[in-house]
Amino acid sequence: MSAELVTGIAELTTITEQGVLHDAALVIADGRIAWIGPAAHAPAADSRTDLAGRAVLPGWVDAHTHLVFGGDRSAEFAARMAGGAYAAGGIASTVSATREATTEDLLRRAQELRAEAEAQGTTWVEAKTGYGLDVEHERRTAEVAAVVADEVTFLGAHLVPPGTSMRDYVDLVTGPMLAAVAPLCTAVDVFCERGAFDEEAAREVLAAGARAGLRAKVHANQLGPGPGVRLGVELGALSVDHCNHLDDADVDAIAGSTTVATLLPAADLCTRQPLAPARRLLDAGVTVALATNCNPGSSFTTSMPFAVATAVLQMGMSVEEAVRAATLGGATALGRHEGHDGLGTVAVGRRADLHALDAPSAAHLAYRPGVPLTHAVWRRGVRVR
Ligand code: NIG
Repeated sequence: MSAELVTGIAELTTITEQGVLHDAALVIADGRIAWIGPAAHAPAADSRTDLAGRAVLPGWVDAHTHLVFGGDRSAEFAARMAGGAYAAGGIASTVSATREATTEDLLRRAQELRAEAEAQGTTWVEAKTGYGLDVEHERRTAEVAAVVADEVTFLGAHLVPPGTSMRDYVDLVTGPMLAAVAPLCTAVDVFCERGAFDEEAAREVLAAGARAGLRAKVHANQLGPGPGVRLGVELGALSVDHCNHLDDADVDAIAGSTTVATLLPAADLCTRQPLAPARRLLDAGVTVALATNCNPGSSFTTSMPFAVATAVLQMGMSVEEAVRAATLGGATALGRHEGHDGLGTVAVGRRADLHALDAPSAAHLAYRPGVPLTHAVWRRGVRVR
């Protein structure tokens, strides 16, 4: 058995009942964590990495991205910052650019974004389709996403393409498009919002996805109040994502369910939506995840540290809550928090997906906002940064 000892850790955020350990060490063997304990009692190992008092966290689990796209919408962003509004229709311009891009270009750009995320401590990434919007291009997007990301979500129901009726498009998404794309995916998603898909259409899409073996996710209550959150809860969705405009019944519905509220602070800021009510959700007992929502329209960032810092500084979350939401919360939003291969915790037997900070504690993620703090990253026990 090969073993690596990571020792001299000032603060080990285990995200288990053990919470935070100080002056800790851990042993990695065969890609998994074999031992955790006080550095003073660390066993012998084949090789040793001295982290000299740095904090170690689980790698970030980014549970909501749209990594595969062509084009650039910086002009749209600048216009919005000058007072314009964000609207679902902007998606159409990325659809045109994505269809025009070569597969090589889509792959290269998505790989660059994945590398950028990894350099900031992300060890697991979900990526959605949704900028193809016909069978050929949704399939191609899913193929690229399957190479670059750890799992793919089918988001054919991102926008009804201009010139197509809702009825015809839902028939396409739930028929030939789903058949072509589902084999590459673990989940199905729908943008349930005014200007995108109404409740009835969203229900059809999620039901068809379920018949194809895909778990449900919903882009819900992002741009205004609506039925998305309660529909997701009713259908047992893994997560309802965005959640900017919630009434008490929405919060109660999520709190009484196993559905995760995935919050996307960078998108909230970049679209000038009210920040999602993280504190209200946590106080109601909801499991919250934080993710980047990396996409060219509403949130062009791969930075999980930015999401964590914003959640702490602007959304009323404690450092512990934000780190948990960006690790175990993300894993739960993907249905990957339990079992032998469960993600988002540092625990004996779990995958050694780890993130060492150039700082003695996780608090520095918000205490030093905007400062790159990633010192090292391990995936399955292999140091990748
Ligand atoms: O999650 N809200 C829908 N989809 C993306 C934005 C897509 C775009 O504007 O291109 C999101 O914010």
